[in-house]
Amino acid sequence: MDLYGALRPLLFRLDPETAHNLAFWLGARAAAWPNLPEPDHAPALRREVLGLSFPTPLGLAAGLDKGATLLPLWKALGFGHVEVGTVTPRPQPGNPRPRLFRFPSAGLILNRMGFNSEGAEVVAARLRHRPAGLIVGGNLGKNKETPEAAALEDYRAAYRLVAPQVDYTALNVSSPNTPGLRNLQAPEALKPLLAGMLDLRKEMGLERQPLLLKLAPDLAPEDLDAIVEVAVASGISGLIATNTTLDRGVVAEPLRAFVESKGAGGLSGAPLKSKARDVRRRILAALRGRLPLVACGGLGSAGDVRGALDDGAALAQVYSALIFEGPALVGRIQAGL
Ligand SMILES: Cc1cc2nc3c(=O)[nH]c(=O)nc-3n(C[C@H](O)[C@H](O)[C@H](O)COP(=O)(O)O)c2cc1C
Repeated sequence: MDLYGALRPLLFRLDPETAHNLAFWLGARAAAWPNLPEPDHAPALRREVLGLSFPTPLGLAAGLDKGATLLPLWKALGFGHVEVGTVTPRPQPGNPRPRLFRFPSAGLILNRMGFNSEGAEVVAARLRHRPAGLIVGGNLGKNKETPEAAALEDYRAAYRLVAPQVDYTALNVSSPNTPGLRNLQAPEALKPLLAGMLDLRKEMGLERQPLLLKLAPDLAPEDLDAIVEVAVASGISGLIATNTTLDRGVVAEPLRAFVESKGAGGLSGAPLKSKARDVRRRILAALRGRLPLVACGGLGSAGDVRGALDDGAALAQVYSALIFEGPALVGRIQAGL
């Protein structure tokens, strides 16, 4: 039975965050089911990346399961990995509502959630009960009130709690919804941030746990090249590209004016696809195989994922397409791969 197909008209008539909460409520019931199916991955899909064994290259991008509440469900649906978060060190409510908008005709989402997070302590405690057989990443951010100059301490505080419970961590310096966050992508800010995180990783005896950096699609090509060199020189493990875009130009007229009327935030989904792909290709060319890249941004079909992997990405993540197409998307992509 296509449950999502039956629910979709209701979910898309509700306010987006209410729909999200309802879907998560239902998901939690499903996740608690003792007979959840074991995922059935074709052996050919397995990938050894970052020193980890991924049952499939397809993962769930950060921002959907911010609090690690539905991990058994994501596993049963067939994701090989899930990036939990963004988790901030201390709890914070995020931006006022409305802060999430869907444009189904374009497969587009606008969000300015602003890191609503239960905080690292709560999420880390939940992660202690995570299911086996699913790779889990912890995506880390800073609290809104923390000044940019003190960002490193926030990432470190979140890392101390979350890293021991996950398989890899990702530093989110690319959300457009925390003022100043993206400034951390500048090489002179990035160097001490990465060095400080790698020092902590060593202190904690987690040298072998991958540390990734998630980048925005709104960086100029030369800036991407410079960031790649900083990332490689730092000794981090890989990159994720991309986060949401601030560029309203990705939205075709006549929808663009309507999207603009909804205010600030990052755009994701189908309209982000070509921009994210261009950014990834630039990064891959600069990387020359020195670090693995996780593809994200506008991927919505097996063909999209295949294309990203053929370009040289090691893994791929989806978010927006799952909202529009429902959980069956996962099986469709795996079958297509
Ligand atoms: C509602 C929403 C919330 C998001 N929250 C986060 C987040 O907390 N941390 C993060 O790194 N990315 C976040 N993202 C970005 C996604 O992980 C992904 O990078 C982006 O949506 C592009 O992929 P997509 O086109 O498949 O959605 C969020 C995206 C959406 C739509």
